[in-house]
Amino acid sequence: MTDTSPRSNRQFRLARRPVGVPTPADWQETTEPVPPVPAGGVLVQTLALSLDPAMRGWMNEGKSYIAPVALGEVMRAGGIGRVIGSEHPDFAAGDRVTGVLGVQEYAAFTAAQARQTGLARIDMRLGSLGQWLNVLGMPGMTAYFGLLDVGQPRTGDTVVVSGAAGAVGQTVGQLAKIKGCRVVGIAGGRAKCDWVVNELGFDACIDYKAGNVRAALKEHCPRGVDVYFDNVGGDILDEVLARLAMHARIVLCGAISQYNNTTPVQGPRNYLSLLVHRARMQGMVVFDYTDRFPQAIAELAGYLRDGRMKSREDVVQGIGQFPEALNRLFTGANFGKLVLQVARDDALTG
Ligand SMILES: NC(=O)c1ccc[n+]([C@@H]2O[C@H](COP(=O)([O-])OP(=O)(O)OC[C@H]3O[C@@H](n4cnc5c(N)ncnc54)[C@H](OP(=O)(O)O)[C@@H]3O)[C@@H](O)[C@H]2O)c1
Repeated sequence: MTDTSPRSNRQFRLARRPVGVPTPADWQETTEPVPPVPAGGVLVQTLALSLDPAMRGWMNEGKSYIAPVALGEVMRAGGIGRVIGSEHPDFAAGDRVTGVLGVQEYAAFTAAQARQTGLARIDMRLGSLGQWLNVLGMPGMTAYFGLLDVGQPRTGDTVVVSGAAGAVGQTVGQLAKIKGCRVVGIAGGRAKCDWVVNELGFDACIDYKAGNVRAALKEHCPRGVDVYFDNVGGDILDEVLARLAMHARIVLCGAISQYNNTTPVQGPRNYLSLLVHRARMQGMVVFDYTDRFPQAIAELAGYLRDGRMKSREDVVQGIGQFPEALNRLFTGANFGKLVLQVARDDALTG
């Protein structure tokens, strides 16, 4: 009988801490034997990895909301996998799971590791594997709780979201429309702006690469900005601060324009606008809401099912593409949720 069990596990490890944009020399590619199923644990084959801007932060030394990836460690990454061996009562071979798989082809979890890292079965009836990394995954949860809990939009509010065609942004804008808001996106390039307006139903979109963001905000937000969902920070944050409505809420979700800085982070210059408009700016971290993920997943899956919400994934093929693919986030080359497909699975784009 032919032994078809996998033998090698290709991995990307953090070789050194990047200065600025990561380079190929910051990574070490290794190949190890596939680990056995841990006693009482589970062995997962990686199908697809979520490439996230946060990964750039995890490469840095220093205090954050999560420990940095250690030098020599397999790079941390969330993903979707298929259980190929299990001694764990909650998982069976063939189950599709979501968890912190790392940039590698196979990941082994003891029962304790599975619990601590939140390894969970996913219900493929709710969405495709791509959607499980997007709307139904971490970016969708970020959009849902960031917008609804922190942004607290009211019917008729003007909601502005940057990174509008990206993973978080696409769901923020569509959710705000569903909640009865006027939605203005900010994105880089005509194609992304056309997509969020024509396909996703945003009311307007500002192409920040085309020039005058301030004038465009004035045109599209004549009564000011009630909620700004900030994914990018930097100059765009300052332009929106200059256009706030009274009692505006700014959701500080991310600041991708600053992640590769080699100089100190650029803070908001126009922050006194918060005072003038009795506004608030509040940070959020998606992992604070894990207890409520099931409720958010059920609601968002309902919107996908009834067609009120769409999703777009940008799938790069092959684990070997990892270093180049990750950097697409920082040039804006990704159009939609950036996914790295590691193994074939018919349900990926579904
Ligand atoms: N707080 C949390 O818990 C949490 C969780 C998830 C994500 N986030 C944050 O949410 C943000 C979006 O993440 P995502 O996964 O949805 O990524 P994404 O939007 O799918 O991809 C990143 C996008 O950022 C834009 N970008 C890159 N450099 C930029 C710059 N210098 N100025 C303006 N825009 C720039 C690009 O779009 P354009 O082509 O439009 O420039 C790029 O496509 C990130 O800041 C991320 O760190 C936070």
